Amino acid sequence: MANDADLEQRLRDLTLVKDTARSEIDNAADTETLEALRIKYLGKKGLLSTFLKGLGNLPQEKRRQIGLLANEARELVEVLLERRRDVLKRKELEERLSAERIDVSLPATPVLIGRKHPLMETLEEVERIFTSMGFEIAEGPEVEYDYYNFVALNIPKGHPARDMQASFYITDEILLRTHTSPVQIRAMRSKAPALPVRLIATGKVYRRDDDATHSPMFHQIEGLVIDKRVTMGDLKGVLLEFARQMYGRQATVRLRPSYFPFTEPSAEVDVSCTVCGGRGCRTCKGTGWLEILGSGMVHPKVLENGGYDPAKVTGFAFGMGLERIAMLRYGLDDIRVFFQNDIRFLHTVGRM
Ligand code: DAH
Repeated sequence: MANDADLEQRLRDLTLVKDTARSEIDNAADTETLEALRIKYLGKKGLLSTFLKGLGNLPQEKRRQIGLLANEARELVEVLLERRRDVLKRKELEERLSAERIDVSLPATPVLIGRKHPLMETLEEVERIFTSMGFEIAEGPEVEYDYYNFVALNIPKGHPARDMQASFYITDEILLRTHTSPVQIRAMRSKAPALPVRLIATGKVYRRDDDATHSPMFHQIEGLVIDKRVTMGDLKGVLLEFARQMYGRQATVRLRPSYFPFTEPSAEVDVSCTVCGGRGCRTCKGTGWLEILGSGMVHPKVLENGGYDPAKVTGFAFGMGLERIAMLRYGLDDIRVFFQNDIRFLHTVGRM
């Protein structure tokens, strides 16, 4: 039978549970501990449930009274848990934010990305300039017949001009092309008698040559224009526009008489020095001029070999070395750097 002493003991028990709960909850260091405390006090088998269950043997009136107090205690513990949870959650969020902070001012890990080879950059610029003037782009084989490479260009067997282009022969009649000029013949033959012909042909050429300014493989850009009444003035105008777009509006060109078997008359073309602008410096050896290409009016025999009637049409042609154009563009004095593929050179040339 329950008596008052029993009741008082239970009330003291309840107060003790409340007080311990309060202090444990206030001291809980993290939300995990807090969850353990929730189970300890409010869980199905928790202290407060057990306490309520133990009231069974009290008289109803007392049971009600102490039951109310126990429920108040339960609500209090819930409130305490919730407040503590808020505090801990905020604390944990702050800790995570400061632990995961990113210093955006730290240098990033460099990502090495590729870039176009300086020769290809120059080639694309040359192609852009000529296509902007209405030229189309033609191609021909690198392994070529002696006939297209020489004979059709008015350089018959035994002609001294062959000596200037030391060749890699594959058979007596087949060689690695020594220049892009054979594309003139191939292009004319595929187009004749259509007018106008206005094209550039770019690509690799091969000669038995190897020093600071010569590479056994290099690139040329060939130009060919054929129409009615094409003159040397047109040639100079086109090359002047090319020089201005390539080296700046202040650039000028001059033509010097020269000789090529496939043009008559022939001219070598100089551009005003890209380094000193024409005043004279080391690059232009004090002359103010740099030689950039060979050119001339297409020889009547060459027009004929291409299938055009030299009595009805005229044309001009020019040929330049891409490496030479690129060396002037980037201020280089050794052609071999283009082909050694030193990544430091490839990454920095033109960006200094
Ligand atoms: N083919 C010549 C060479 O490789 C360059 C050249 C000169 C091309 C005059 C031409 C030209 O079309 O008209 O040296």
